[in-house]
Amino acid sequence: MTRPPASQPPGTLGRVIAIDGPAGAGKSTLSRALARHLGLQRLDTGAMYRAVAWGAITRDVDPGDHEAVATLARTMSITVGDRVTADGKDITEAIRAPDVNRAVSVVAANRDVRTIMVARQRQWAEDHRGGVVEGRDIGSVVFPHADLKIYLTASGEERARRRSEEGSDWIARRDHLDSTRAASPLEVAEGAKVIDTTGRSIKAVVEEVLAWL
Ligand code: DC
Repeated sequence: MTRPPASQPPGTLGRVIAIDGPAGAGKSTLSRALARHLGLQRLDTGAMYRAVAWGAITRDVDPGDHEAVATLARTMSITVGDRVTADGKDITEAIRAPDVNRAVSVVAANRDVRTIMVARQRQWAEDHRGGVVEGRDIGSVVFPHADLKIYLTASGEERARRRSEEGSDWIARRDHLDSTRAASPLEVAEGAKVIDTTGRSIKAVVEEVLAWL
């Protein structure tokens, strides 16, 4: 198994804010607001895993085919910003489709895919001189030296409501797979501040986080 190289020590990257947590916890809303307030770029790393899952589906590759999916991750050109593109196509909406929701956790459990994505995420932060990065392993694996690590959570009911288009069964299944996989499972990173967003406004959460910086 090849492991990603150790993340850079503090000070060499610019400011990095790491936001992790399960589906529907509010990561995207918080990361957008923080990026705007702090004048930083934002990276949604879930969109990168979704783009690889989309690549597998559209090429009729079994998402569980370790080698074939790792090759896709290595060779696909993926850009994630306000829009998401892969191989020159705008796939912003396509990566939120039910078939991608179903395949993405299997793709994200692939160690080789993770190694490739982690390297790309670190390169992105170097190119952008830091940023607000959201995902599942950002504070634990990708940027263990992040300036601030946040673990967002919310009640199962509230998360299912926020992702109602996905269906609560699928959310629960995806969270289970993401938290129990062998490679970089979703967990509270060492030193992360845990925020439960259940019943709280985004404004209140942003204010709380900004006060820590
Ligand atoms: O945040 P999201 O729901 O769009 O993420 C899609 C999937 O990708 C999710 O099931 C977990 C996985 N993921 C991951 O394993 N590591 C990340 N850094 C980001 C997402």
